[in-house]
Amino acid sequence: MCGIVGYIGDKKAAPILIKGLEKLEYRGYDSAGIAVIENNEIVTLKDKGRVKNLLKIDGMESLNSGIGIAHTRWATHGKPSAINSHPHSDKDKCFAVVHNGIIENYKELKEKLKNEGYTFISETDTEVIPNLINYYYLKEKKEDSKALLRAIRNACMDLMGSFAIEVISKEKPNEMIVIRKDSPLIIGKGENENYIASDIPAILPYTRNIYFLDNYEFAYIYKDRVDFYNKNLEPIKKETKEIKWDSSDAEKDGFPHFMLKEIYEQPRAVRETIGTTLDNDKIEIEGLELEREYLKTINKIYIVACGTAMYAGLTARKTIEHLCNIPVEVEVASEFRYNNPLIDEKTLAIYISQSGETADTIAALKLAKSKGAKTIAVANVIGSSITREADYSVYTHAGPEIAVASTKAYTSQITMLTIMAMHFAEILGTSSKNEIEELKKCLLSMPEKIEETLKVAERIKEFAKKIYNEKDVFFLGRGIDYPVCLEGSLKLKEITYIHSEGYASGELKHGPIALIDNGITVVSVITDKDLVEKSLSNVQEVITRGAKILLITNQNIEKKGFEELIKIPETNKFLSPILAIIPLQLLSYNIAVEKKLDVDKPRNLAKSVTVE
Ligand code: M6R
Repeated sequence: MCGIVGYIGDKKAAPILIKGLEKLEYRGYDSAGIAVIENNEIVTLKDKGRVKNLLKIDGMESLNSGIGIAHTRWATHGKPSAINSHPHSDKDKCFAVVHNGIIENYKELKEKLKNEGYTFISETDTEVIPNLINYYYLKEKKEDSKALLRAIRNACMDLMGSFAIEVISKEKPNEMIVIRKDSPLIIGKGENENYIASDIPAILPYTRNIYFLDNYEFAYIYKDRVDFYNKNLEPIKKETKEIKWDSSDAEKDGFPHFMLKEIYEQPRAVRETIGTTLDNDKIEIEGLELEREYLKTINKIYIVACGTAMYAGLTARKTIEHLCNIPVEVEVASEFRYNNPLIDEKTLAIYISQSGETADTIAALKLAKSKGAKTIAVANVIGSSITREADYSVYTHAGPEIAVASTKAYTSQITMLTIMAMHFAEILGTSSKNEIEELKKCLLSMPEKIEETLKVAERIKEFAKKIYNEKDVFFLGRGIDYPVCLEGSLKLKEITYIHSEGYASGELKHGPIALIDNGITVVSVITDKDLVEKSLSNVQEVITRGAKILLITNQNIEKKGFEELIKIPETNKFLSPILAIIPLQLLSYNIAVEKKLDVDKPRNLAKSVTVE
């Protein structure tokens, strides 16, 4: 959480920093600030509230400096306030620091520094960092060219937790030092200028040549070069990677919200995720070269992820078990980490993450690796932390997802995981050629079927107008439709703040049916033709108790008795979640719009959860 941006070059830093922060607001948006060096002094402007508030701060327009750091905050330690906003400085106002992450031992460090005469003005964990740097810098000989770097390194070695940090100092007004550990940070190489950010969209308008930092790598940044050092401050070489994303991918392109744009981008996201994987006789997935001999030894697959990514995993479990005949367990990363999971070298562990930066998912991956399992990361962001930890990395090609509520990443994840299941089944010979061929055909037609499904938008909008004031909404599904209901319910909660639950239809009568009351809205998803009758009888049970039903189905079911029936195209059962989720995404979106809520930045949430 929190987004950081930095600039060093010949242009004015402030407008670039603010523009960059706006692109990173999805990471946190309760306060923002920038610090630049003007006339050899650090000037810091910051306040509570959105990034756009920064423009109203006196003095912002007159900043001319070509070096600066900036931050948009998602509060962890200390409430949102001007004082707690970043950048933070040391007691002598010599250094300015922005930080994304959590310093777990900040209380201890604060005490130590207080005993040395340091004073603190904020409630944040971050404020210890500039003061620690000050503490170590005072021990250095200033004429030593590595004095500042060494002071920062020594300070970082005292920190426990996660951090991506940018530091500027009035002692070195034309230089910046950045470092990361378990929080993302990238450097964009320009012509006589360099850009720093937590995530690619912030620097996409300027460059596509990116350096990715690994844990405990320090970058000493000048306007015309970047020097890299390891933990021991030995110089290391790093190459840039070229990012293919278009800069317009990170803009709204005429849509009122990123979420709606991203819902409509799903045909392209799924098409690009399929890419060339199905072009040849045998399925090929770039980055995934697993031998038959190895796959044959696997007796269990774990799928681990958080939130929406985990729900994509629940769908994939059914596909993998069916096609590959290997038991699959799906677990939330934050639980998996502490459950002492039964893992050995016969376990294959798959980690799904749009951002590739989710702290719990990364920690869960490291755990499985340490117990001997092979690990696969399924990520959307190239070069993200998880892809650098995993044994194998495969990418969804959804493009940048900016809205906090995940949409196109989810359908791309199901797409990639289905391809992976087919690939394993092909290698293992656990599924018939016909079944794989039929799935291939259906997958290739998904982009068109998504386009067709999107045509329900107007009817969903009308339905949203009828129910936007509801207090509770239930989602019911069986089999392959159950995880879709969980995801549909999560979408509704996170952007409309309506209480909602997703249930397996058959489970309802074991308790939750007590909540069904006259007039309550129930969304039912029915796409598995073998389960239609059973699902319909569960729906009947709630209708009898007064529920209004929105039915999403690809079957020929009569509308009679339902408040609304939305027909979606038919496809292979294992791919139907990709289509069934679309009306549910649109439903949440339209309810949030009707309620005049901040669709792209719902309260209390951040796009990437980079803290535990
Ligand atoms: O970046 P990740 O896929 O690892 O993120 C996982 C979850 O935080 C994420 O899916 C979250 O649940 C979304 N806000 C859901 O829309």
